[in-house]
Amino acid sequence: MMSKAVEIFEVGPRDGLQNEPAFISSEDKIALTQALAGAGLRRIECASFVSPKWVPQMADAAQVVEGVTPGAAQLYALAPNNRGLQAALATPVGGLCVFIAATEGFSRANTNISLAGAVERVQDVIATFRAEAPEGVRLRGYISCVTECPYDGPVAPSEVARLAELLHGAGCDEISLGDTIGTAYPEQVARMLEAVVRVVPAEALAGHYHDTAGRALANIDVSLDYGLRIFDASIAGLGGCPYAPGAKGNVDTELVYAHLIARGYDISGAPDRAGLAQAARLARKILGRTEGAIDAI
Ligand code: HMG
Ligand code: MG
Repeated sequence: MMSKAVEIFEVGPRDGLQNEPAFISSEDKIALTQALAGAGLRRIECASFVSPKWVPQMADAAQVVEGVTPGAAQLYALAPNNRGLQAALATPVGGLCVFIAATEGFSRANTNISLAGAVERVQDVIATFRAEAPEGVRLRGYISCVTECPYDGPVAPSEVARLAELLHGAGCDEISLGDTIGTAYPEQVARMLEAVVRVVPAEALAGHYHDTAGRALANIDVSLDYGLRIFDASIAGLGGCPYAPGAKGNVDTELVYAHLIARGYDISGAPDRAGLAQAARLARKILGRTEGAIDAI
């Protein structure tokens, strides 16, 4: 029988907030991350050591990571280059994330470089990570646009598999597969996973599904069938990528929680529903939003 242990990897304080135009104070980012850790989530991505010219909202990455007392949780942060990696490693991160896209168009829009250039840069960052990261710090690799690109259209599963194998072989212990614009159909996710699980074990894969078209839960279901057990989600469904026009939020943490519990899965860290609802209320309060409350679940 397949394992019923799953994990929700929380990305709200990073993916959820990075696109917000008005600067959110470090105190609010810290409070949100703290609330998510308090709710029992075990891995929380809360910062990006990227260029503040590109993503001004993440300019306080170091303050945020240093300001949280994570308890049992591990804090994750993105690094686009060696400079970001060094800055992140100077803070108590539990995990680093490198990121590439499966397409030329998204690579240029998101990181100002060709896909081949991005692969080279990421391999360099991974090499530095392996040489300098303290024991126990983990490395996650993201691939964006795993089914569809807002610039280049449909993406070949073989290309995603090639990049996943490359990141895994280079030293990423986990590869997160991003439906960046949130429009994938389960059939497309299935075709993509069919190719990827041939070259990277399903235990090392995560599903990162934005929920623009409302199919993220269906995409999680098909991923479960392929053996994936880690799903990225964002509290209160916050999110969107600044370089992915039209991309709405990541799939909502509370929805994923309720869905997985209803399907009989055990979620790592045993996050509690009340704690998640409290974190979601805080997220909406920070952003001055009232819509989207799903307390009725
Ligand atoms: P660039 O403009 O080609 O390179 O940016 P640059 O080296 O000329 O840097 C530009 C400026 O930023 C310079 O400042 C650098 O010093 C500075 P200036 O000299 O002009 O004053 N800089 C930095 N500052 C702080 N930390 C750094 C850093 N690096 C350079 N690490 C670069 C290239 C990759 C840096 C830029 O394109 C970038 O930061 N991109 C990040 C974009 C981003 O964060 N996107 C969102 C995250 S990915 C995502 O959301 C997808 C995901 O959720 C999965 C999915 O949904 O698909 C993960
Ligand atoms: Mg994303």
